[in-house]
Amino acid sequence: MNAKQVAAEKAVSFLDDGMTIGLGTGSTAYWAIEKIAEEMKKRKWKIRAIATSLRSEEHGRSLGIPIFSFADIGTIDITIDGADEADEQLRLIKGGGGALLREKIVATNSNQLIIVADDSKKVKTLGKFPLPVEVVLFGWERTFEKLRSLGCKPTRRMAESGPYVSDNGNYIVDCAFGQIEDPEAVHEEINSITGVVDNGLFINIATKLILGFENGETRIISR
Ligand code: 5RP
Repeated sequence: MNAKQVAAEKAVSFLDDGMTIGLGTGSTAYWAIEKIAEEMKKRKWKIRAIATSLRSEEHGRSLGIPIFSFADIGTIDITIDGADEADEQLRLIKGGGGALLREKIVATNSNQLIIVADDSKKVKTLGKFPLPVEVVLFGWERTFEKLRSLGCKPTRRMAESGPYVSDNGNYIVDCAFGQIEDPEAVHEEINSITGVVDNGLFINIATKLILGFENGETRIISR
């Protein structure tokens, strides 16, 4: 079985009629969006959704999920999203798909953030996956050097036709730290650099991690 799909479908079992739901981004959140649309039709759920990327917004809309903006919704009950790495304390690295800023805005305005992932995403120490940092275009070269001075190897993310630009019109710099022993400190150091919009460390935000396995089983870690 597809371990990502297994985790995502388990997460959808926590949703219910009448909820406002955050739609995550990536190949695991993809399966949650598919399942939400299926359940919505089967159970005649009246739900409202907000998306963490233009990609997920289009995906949800194409399946008939009603998509709203922050101006039209109250509290987000549950957001289901993926992660690039997660540790035992549910600290995360996110942003491999480039949607970290909208993901963090939606997540921090949600009562619950359920992270769905295949079991390979669970790590002892964060940092093997290069940490995505969203930076504004103006002066990005200097911001890049300041990131390097924190001890990482930074790379500006590229798309096929040139530099990758986020849904918010910013660059992403992927910072290879190797190991991040103190994620809280690294989060503060990065975000204190002028020119950085935010980084992909999610600390004290996720409330549940659902890991999927190829044998169809799941493991749930709650905080
Ligand atoms: C996008 C993200 C994704 O949730 C993360 O990259 C995991 O993606 P996938 O489920 O495809 O492995 O943070 O910005």
